Amino acid sequence: MADITETAEWRELTEHYTALAGRHLRELFAQDPDRATRMTVTAGDLHLDYSKHRATDETIRLLVALAERAGLRERIEAMFSGEHINVSEDRAVLHTALRLPRDARLTVDGQDVVADVHAVLDRMADFAERVRSGKWTGHTGKSITHVVNIGIGGSDLGPAMAYEALRDFADAGIACRFVSNVDPADVAGTLADLDPERTLFVVSSKTFGTLETLTNARAARRWLVERLGGEEAVARHFVAVSTNAERVAEFGIDTANMFEFWDWVGGRYSMDSAIGLSLMIAIGPDRFREMLAGFHAIDEHFRTAPFEANMPVIMGLLGVWYTDFFGAQTRAVLPYSQRLARFPAYLQQLTMESNGKSVRADGAPVVAQTGEIFWGEPGTNGQHAFYQLLHQGTRLVPADFIGFAEPHEDVPAEDGVGMHDLLVANMLAQTSALAFGRTAEEIAAEGTPAAIVPHKVMPGNRPTNTILAPRLTPSTLGQLVALYEHIVFVEGTIWGIDSFDQWGVELGKVMANELTPALTSAEPPQTAPDASTAELVRLYRRMRG
Ligand code: F6P
Repeated sequence: MADITETAEWRELTEHYTALAGRHLRELFAQDPDRATRMTVTAGDLHLDYSKHRATDETIRLLVALAERAGLRERIEAMFSGEHINVSEDRAVLHTALRLPRDARLTVDGQDVVADVHAVLDRMADFAERVRSGKWTGHTGKSITHVVNIGIGGSDLGPAMAYEALRDFADAGIACRFVSNVDPADVAGTLADLDPERTLFVVSSKTFGTLETLTNARAARRWLVERLGGEEAVARHFVAVSTNAERVAEFGIDTANMFEFWDWVGGRYSMDSAIGLSLMIAIGPDRFREMLAGFHAIDEHFRTAPFEANMPVIMGLLGVWYTDFFGAQTRAVLPYSQRLARFPAYLQQLTMESNGKSVRADGAPVVAQTGEIFWGEPGTNGQHAFYQLLHQGTRLVPADFIGFAEPHEDVPAEDGVGMHDLLVANMLAQTSALAFGRTAEEIAAEGTPAAIVPHKVMPGNRPTNTILAPRLTPSTLGQLVALYEHIVFVEGTIWGIDSFDQWGVELGKVMANELTPALTSAEPPQTAPDASTAELVRLYRRMRG
């Protein structure tokens, strides 16, 4: 496998970077005002403006050539058709199959994947409807009002983010809560005010071997059994989502109440699998299917649109452009939607667990920089916290701004202006200020004292994407998530890494298991992995008394 940084395409981009790096977005816009309409892409309901990037048509041409050189076209087909592109785990990567329509055909490793997916979706829908209508009752015959999803990582972040995003569509009077952390405060705080007779637990774990999830699930089971009088209550209050029926049964959940998914769905790519059961119960199967259709619309766009007009391709390549040529380390995701408050956290797992790698898929070290550090907060809160650094700091932080034309519900501000318009005005103002800034001359012309002028200069030339969609709905949420899934794929392909394994999280889990006895045993600890940790173990034991 040739190293991508050794290719002619990479060299051309390096030269192009040298020529372009000193140019300001003011200049690029002055010379080419049409870029505002030309450098846009529509995919499904999503409109992307990427004109405020330190890039020209030539940049895009060279980046697309790099993508061709990296074999992106073939890799997309390999993923969609179920080849084992997760090489270190020898697995297909088929989250795109989770949203194929019922009449699609896809056979992988001898298995009719579409039939499997829809069989589970139908079971989920049936169960969700029974819970929503009150036909499914708890042990004492009462209907369910609260669903608690117990999971972590991909078995938590997706449904937690999506429930928050779509809570305006939760129409059956059923609220969801999410327990993930092994910190006892999480489970205890979540359950404190719940009525056990009306609470349903969805234990979500791909492996059903994750310490945090099993520990929280046992705590929840004890809580329930103590309050409802016996183990026989468990069957009506616990269901499971997993790939591992054996462990689900061992835990004591009837596998008739287990909703399956498959090893070809990565944890962080699983919110549209049975892992979304809690969300489906809240918003209903029809809305859930609308979300799947949204995912599918972007899958089709990714698979078929020419690279120059392909939203995930353009956004992924621009991510590589800043990471590898400008040396940017992070990427801010700034949703101007309170409902998307958990979207940056969701993207952190999706992107960083996928592309935080330093060896290529063939085991050779990567030479390029990989894995953007994703972070963010909903606007306008971020504006009053960290945007100062975005505007005037020394670092380059490319940012994705995400907004919607219509709110679910508006609230009047003043003078006939709705709060939603204020929100969007802020978003647009920020991208403009980041791109064009304010010069010393402009600031001096306002009468600012000379000594203060440098402090007020806004350098601009800070690149942003703006994604605008009509409204936050199940469909547009599905589209947004699929967009970022495929951005990850594009970047991972350029870097030549396996974006679908996560070996880096394993060591810490093993060591935590080994350390637990050192913290808890009556005897002084015999072993610790290193001198510093041994000291901290001693200190902790002393503090615990
Ligand atoms: O943190 C590692 C990880 O394996 C994630 O990839 C996964 O989403 C999470 O743990 C939870 O795993 P499981 O669904 O098997 O409990």
